Amino acid sequence: MAQRIQGTEDLYGGYMRAWQHMQDVARELFGAYGFDMIETPAIEQVDTFVHGIGESTDVVRKEMFRVVSGALFQNLLEAGNEDGLKAKQRMAMRPEGTAGVVRAVVEHNLVPQGAAPAKLWYASPMFRGERPQKGRLRQFHQVGVEWLGAPDAAADAECIIMLMEFYKRLGFEAKDLRLSINSMGDAACRPAYREKVRAFILDHADEMCEDCLERAEINPLRAFDCKNEHCHEVMAAAPLANDNLCDDCAAHYAQVKRYLDEAGVAYVEDPTLVRGLDYYTRTVFEIEAVGAGVGAIGGGGRYDGLVELEGGKPTPGIGFAVGFERIALALAAQGASLEGDEPSCVYVACAGSEQRDAVFSATLALRQANIRTEADYQGRSLKSQFKQADKLGARLCVVFGSDEVEAGVATLRDMETHEQVQVPIADLATEVAARLA
Ligand code: HAM
Repeated sequence: MAQRIQGTEDLYGGYMRAWQHMQDVARELFGAYGFDMIETPAIEQVDTFVHGIGESTDVVRKEMFRVVSGALFQNLLEAGNEDGLKAKQRMAMRPEGTAGVVRAVVEHNLVPQGAAPAKLWYASPMFRGERPQKGRLRQFHQVGVEWLGAPDAAADAECIIMLMEFYKRLGFEAKDLRLSINSMGDAACRPAYREKVRAFILDHADEMCEDCLERAEINPLRAFDCKNEHCHEVMAAAPLANDNLCDDCAAHYAQVKRYLDEAGVAYVEDPTLVRGLDYYTRTVFEIEAVGAGVGAIGGGGRYDGLVELEGGKPTPGIGFAVGFERIALALAAQGASLEGDEPSCVYVACAGSEQRDAVFSATLALRQANIRTEADYQGRSLKSQFKQADKLGARLCVVFGSDEVEAGVATLRDMETHEQVQVPIADLATEVAARLA
């Protein structure tokens, strides 16, 4: 039997409805904040991710699924390396949404000089070649937003406020969420801070793992995220980002916190929060569902240098993304659910073959009135049609018997109360709609 790839999931039934529900909530809430939807391709040039996310990040170095056409794959195998590939032939499945959206913003000049910011949101599958485990998939789904052209601290705060409202509307209680924030500085203060952290790691070289020693050279801040318990303990004494901010970054961070306080959003400051993507500047944040054991259910931050890295004019940006699968798991762990009820339907039952035509036209009329309608297509007995209607969760059944069709009426049966009334066939759709409402 063919099987799906480990770390991928099929979305169907209640799980699919949960994903759609999440998008509906996003559309309404993000719409109120002025965000429009965008869908970028699931494959991009490798360079889009390398420039944006950073060459030294795990996401780019280890987790990106690379894509080649069948013909090129053969060439690659023969050549033994990818040196012969042109930049546009080097493609990857997107591991996250920000780099592709920013590439699109640059390509279509969506934030021309002097124009209002671009506010975009997406709901899309992402791909990371990670070792699959609970809440860690190789294909997962994110809802995210990207806000380009807004340097003000109010944008940082509004993004976070909107995100926390999103969780609330999905069914989380504020007490079950932990929002951590930090400021990572900018091009003015980060280089000196990186250097301090690098020096710290090298000073403690004999206490740290091989990976961290490598990180010291290419991306020292990532050592704060090392999974090794001992490195973690050592890094607790390392210089912290928020003690090393320049005046502008410190003022920006203070303003973000003032706005969050004013909005009554609870947060904890975590000066070791560095996030796994290189494009961040200043504000970063991450959200965990307390006790759910699924890792972060969302994260984001400001990326004022990313548009330039993707070849555009200097344009500030900020955004976040949340993981659908982890949110579904976290809500389940807290006894709540994202899954909406199955939509109610009407079942049109057929007493015998002579009534088939009447069933066919009634079914058409009900669907024309946007009423979810099911019927029998297998020639079953009336009894099994009622069973089927029950299984489908039908609230009403329309039954056509021979005398009724002749008299121009149908029987409407309430599946819960078993109450039955006769309704003129011409009024069927109006009557059903009224009863379902
Ligand atoms: P991220 O923190 O890498 O950020 O991912 C955001 C969320 O996606 C995570 O908090 C988690 O819920 C979910 N997620 C990530 N990896 C996996 C996985 N392997 N399996 C299941 N869920 C996962 C970003 O992707 C940034 N682009 C967010 C952003 C937008 N920053 C600014 N704008």
